[in-house]
Amino acid sequence: MQKKLREIHNQAVAEIVAVQTEEDLKKIQIRFLGKKGEMTSLLRGMGQLPPEERPLVGGLANQIRDELTNLFAAREEELRSKARQRAMAKEHVDVTLPGKQPMIGHLHPLTLIMEEISNIFLGMGFTIKEGPEIETEYYNFEALNIPREHPAREMQDSFYIRPEILLRTHTSPVQIRTMEELAPQVPVRIIAPGKVYRRDDDATHSPMFHQVEGLVIDRDISLSDLKGTLLLFARQMFGPNQQVRLRPSFFPFTEPSAEVDIACVICGGQGCRVCKDSGWIEILGSGMVHPRVLELSGYDPEEYTAYAFGMGVERVAMLKYGIDDLRMFFSNDIRMLRQFG
Ligand code: PHE
Repeated sequence: MQKKLREIHNQAVAEIVAVQTEEDLKKIQIRFLGKKGEMTSLLRGMGQLPPEERPLVGGLANQIRDELTNLFAAREEELRSKARQRAMAKEHVDVTLPGKQPMIGHLHPLTLIMEEISNIFLGMGFTIKEGPEIETEYYNFEALNIPREHPAREMQDSFYIRPEILLRTHTSPVQIRTMEELAPQVPVRIIAPGKVYRRDDDATHSPMFHQVEGLVIDRDISLSDLKGTLLLFARQMFGPNQQVRLRPSFFPFTEPSAEVDIACVICGGQGCRVCKDSGWIEILGSGMVHPRVLELSGYDPEEYTAYAFGMGVERVAMLKYGIDDLRMFFSNDIRMLRQFG
């Protein structure tokens, strides 16, 4: 029996030294020292020994079990630290390697242009107003003196959410909301940048586009104030020699009305393909706010006059950047967008 114990001991020691993983070590430990292990089953045979031999064998068995238990613990610690070292080696980072440059984004060219437009007007004492993109027919049409029969009111020209509620087709409703809020205070000097929606889609029209509305109300405001302000704007935006031109036009909410052109930035007014040989390019619609519109929203037209304009942001951006297809702004082509960071 003592011989058998020594054999078990030697065998266990050999296996403990050879084993390479904690998992296998656990299995070996169970096989030798577990409840159904070799030691236990051997010692179960103690009963058959002559009584005088029992203490000797028992002592030896205890000694061997203690020794093996210590050996298992020591080997376990050793394997664990080796595994830890291996994991650390795998995660090793060479901090002296050059870093990876993260891609840094930037604002969309249209956002940049809107900010540039806004900053020019802020510099002239305007403040910024915003209105909802989902509007009522009242703010989008009625209050702007746009009659029921007007084509813009047709379902095929505008995006209706439900009867009487639509995506605003221009930023002009912000004129009305501003007047309702501020009347009868003067002076009013606001711009309203934002998205607008129409059922258009070609090289120069997108179903979603941007406008910057302008509204100035005070005593004795005239067309010359409008022209002077827009000239200053055009020169800050496109260069100190820019010219503006007012062309008679019609909007139901302004009287008189004018389309405003700037000298073609491509050819400098000589005439080219972009300006269709006219030397001028339209950038906005404008006019003196119709007395009926003023009155309806709380300003006495006998006392106050006002001008308003609605600028096409995409149009300004195309001229500023020399882009001839509006859809470039919305196609999400990173090669195109990256040029404006
Ligand atoms: N709202 C008009 C449009 O979208 C532009 C405009 C604004 C005209 C203000 C006159 C005054 O076409």
